Amino acid sequence: MVAKAEPPLDAAVAACRIRSAGSNDLPLLREMLFEAAFWRADAPRPGLAEGLARPDLAPLLDAWGRRGDTAVVAEAPTREGVGAAWYRFWSVDVHSYGFVASEIPELGIAVRPALRGHGLGSRLLRALLAQAARDRIRQLSLSVETENPALRLYERSGFRRVGRVGGAWTLVADVGS
Ligand SMILES: CC(C)(COP(=O)(O)OP(=O)(O)OC[C@H]1O[C@@H](n2cnc3c(N)ncnc32)[C@H](O)[C@@H]1OP(=O)(O)O)[C@@H](O)C(=O)NCCC(=O)NCCS
Repeated sequence: MVAKAEPPLDAAVAACRIRSAGSNDLPLLREMLFEAAFWRADAPRPGLAEGLARPDLAPLLDAWGRRGDTAVVAEAPTREGVGAAWYRFWSVDVHSYGFVASEIPELGIAVRPALRGHGLGSRLLRALLAQAARDRIRQLSLSVETENPALRLYERSGFRRVGRVGGAWTLVADVGS
């Protein structure tokens, strides 16, 4: 029997659709938070549960579904989730690395490693920014380590550098601009 050829990667990525996340998508968001936190391909990574239990990461998706929690998901034709982008509001007392102000939610994003570099992250980011505009959010912030290639995607998409915390830039984008 001849094995069926895999479709080219860019066609597989183009076949993915972007949709709003639902309550069943939390496992995918957790996987993508893990990918975002442990993005370095050349560094050893813990297991998913162990990595997400790290004290700085554990609160980030805790009790997901609070007012304002918003996410979009990239879904393959098989309906398998392959990427996600999300934002969440934080307070002065409880927040992550990219915190700027309590009215500016912080964004996270990741795509499964095998599908990166074919436009899915850009589509997720556009969809999330469009959702933020509909939610009348004026700005989004995020934190990105200075060597992370994702910095180029963010700056192309309207994010600008507003500060630096250790080895990471804090970026802010005006929604709808
Ligand atoms: C960042 C990310 C979501 C972008 O998704 P994508 O589908 O690869 O993005 P696109 O194909 O639409 O755009 C390409 C851009 O993504 C970034 N990118 C591409 N491959 C990447 C990779 N392997 N790792 C990190 N960023 C990558 C670059 O900015 C690239 O821009 P360039 O073409 O000018 O180099 C995705 O690469 C990823 O999941 N990276 C690891 C997780 C991560 O670092 N998240 C952000 C934490 S702040």
